[in-house]
Amino acid sequence: MCGIVGCIVKEQAGRVLASGLERLEYRGYDSAGIAVVTDDGIRVRRRVGKLAELLDDFDYDAFDGKVGIGHTRWATHGKPSEGNAHPIQDDTGDVVLVHNGIIENYKEIREELEGKGHVFATETDTEVIAHLISEIMQGDDLEGAVRETMRRLKGAYAIVVLHRRLPDRLVGARRDSPLVAGIGEGEYFLASDIPPLLEHTRDVLLLEDGEIVSLTPEGVRVTDLEGNTIERQPKEIEWNLLQAEKGGYPHFMLKEIHEQGVVVNDSLLGRIAEDGTVRLPELDMDADAVAAIDKIVIIGCGTSWHSALIGKFLIEELAEIPVEVDIGSEFRYRRSILGPSTLVLAITQSGETADTLASMRKARAHGARTISICNVIGSTASREADGVVYTQAGPEIGVASTKAFVSQLIVLNLLALHLGSMRGKITREASKEYTDELRAVRGRVETLIERADELDPIVDSYKHVDDFLYLGRGINYPIALEGALKLKEISYIHAEGYPAGELKHGPIALIEEKMPVLAVATPGETYAKISSNIDQVKARGGEVIAVVADDEANPPMGVDHLIRVPRCRETISPIVNVVPLQILSYRIAVARGCDVDQPRNLAKSVTVE
Ligand code: M6R
Repeated sequence: MCGIVGCIVKEQAGRVLASGLERLEYRGYDSAGIAVVTDDGIRVRRRVGKLAELLDDFDYDAFDGKVGIGHTRWATHGKPSEGNAHPIQDDTGDVVLVHNGIIENYKEIREELEGKGHVFATETDTEVIAHLISEIMQGDDLEGAVRETMRRLKGAYAIVVLHRRLPDRLVGARRDSPLVAGIGEGEYFLASDIPPLLEHTRDVLLLEDGEIVSLTPEGVRVTDLEGNTIERQPKEIEWNLLQAEKGGYPHFMLKEIHEQGVVVNDSLLGRIAEDGTVRLPELDMDADAVAAIDKIVIIGCGTSWHSALIGKFLIEELAEIPVEVDIGSEFRYRRSILGPSTLVLAITQSGETADTLASMRKARAHGARTISICNVIGSTASREADGVVYTQAGPEIGVASTKAFVSQLIVLNLLALHLGSMRGKITREASKEYTDELRAVRGRVETLIERADELDPIVDSYKHVDDFLYLGRGINYPIALEGALKLKEISYIHAEGYPAGELKHGPIALIEEKMPVLAVATPGETYAKISSNIDQVKARGGEVIAVVADDEANPPMGVDHLIRVPRCRETISPIVNVVPLQILSYRIAVARGCDVDQPRNLAKSVTVE
């Protein structure tokens, strides 16, 4: 996601902020900015694009001051532009701040403040924070104003704030988005992440949710929402820089697997009303437009294609609209029957996959309405589609897609519910029950990540095999495909995903003594069927690893390993079931000594045919 750095130092803050931002580059960003308190007030410089745009001709002497803040922005609300880049100011220019996260209720706050005469200059959710602080602040109590502002904000945030009248003070605060303070020798720092701190200090204070931190040249003070001082000893960080960029994880892929609970939360944030109704204004389709859809076509490549397959189940089940699914490289060259009543969904993490983009262009040329489900704001897919629903997974750096997939599934669930409600297929009560269960997915995903060590006996048993078969049925057939893709791309073990009912039509010939077969057998319509497919494998000497519900009273007989996952409704189960398969692939790849983050022959984004 975005990156934050702030400092109170003895020499030029601009230089410290510049190198801090370079340490945050690995997180991915589309614009950046710096603000420094100078003798002439707070000076701000922001640029779109790489840091070179901001820093190459940066006039450090003009930005001479010892207190400042910097930011790398990964756009979530408002396109990547200089105007939307941080630091963001209120309309008086008194309050200047940087923000990571998403403010869920920014529209309401903006309307309220506009009613009081505030003039907004950006498309961001962040700007409401600057205006609110300005509106609330009494005298010079910046800390109090930040505290009061926190009470008004819904969503996730880490902020660091400067105020024109308080030139030697920085105030930070966090909720559901990380912020750490660095304690140097008479110098103090704030950052969203450890790397920018490491060249200055290894002593850090890890801030907790709901805490406010005040930095002055005299030191650091942490308080809670009631204003009580919190005594906390700094922790010594022993990481080197590379470890720090990965948040202490050995690989980006593992870090991203671990982020999935938060990603579930972020992908739902602001999209469910209190009565359970789904809000997706990005679709820009009223009930008549939704009623007029006669067919949906979903397109994607690789992992995004697997999401598309799950999307078909969801939309047909919840909205009762017929859905076709296509791989981008196939769709673009196939004769397709499309028209104005066709809705085409293009799923792409990067928004730059050549075959997906070509398919979208073809669909538009046929008069279909295109919606991109995309992770990167400002990407080609997001610009060319008629509408875009962002997945909010944050930058995904590991080549093997993990958290982007989970975020795509959350969005597809929301989309299917939304279409279903608009077409009168889902009642408000049913939507409430369903969305409550979606909110509970975060905890389920996090439980599975905590239980990762339970997979070690499976890793030990199969890390040296040459072939693997993955089976699933119904909505979990694409999870078999995804499990197999994860394993083959990072461990180079040959793996195939199959709909279990197809076993007897060919693949069963592969089953011999010790052949590992992973079967996704969580509760659902076809549970009895997949149990009998497992029997067929066992009868031929294959070894079965079955993914089953943790309270399953009748697990398939005679399986060699069970992976227990929290029970949830069938249409939601793929989001939970994929997690142990990701971890299993990761651990097998590590055990085989493979380069997990940069597997051979693969690129993160396939921008050519
Ligand atoms: O950026 P996209 O979602 O369009 O990328 C599609 C595929 O290239 C991608 O999912 C690929 O299959 C990943 N390596 C899977 O882990």
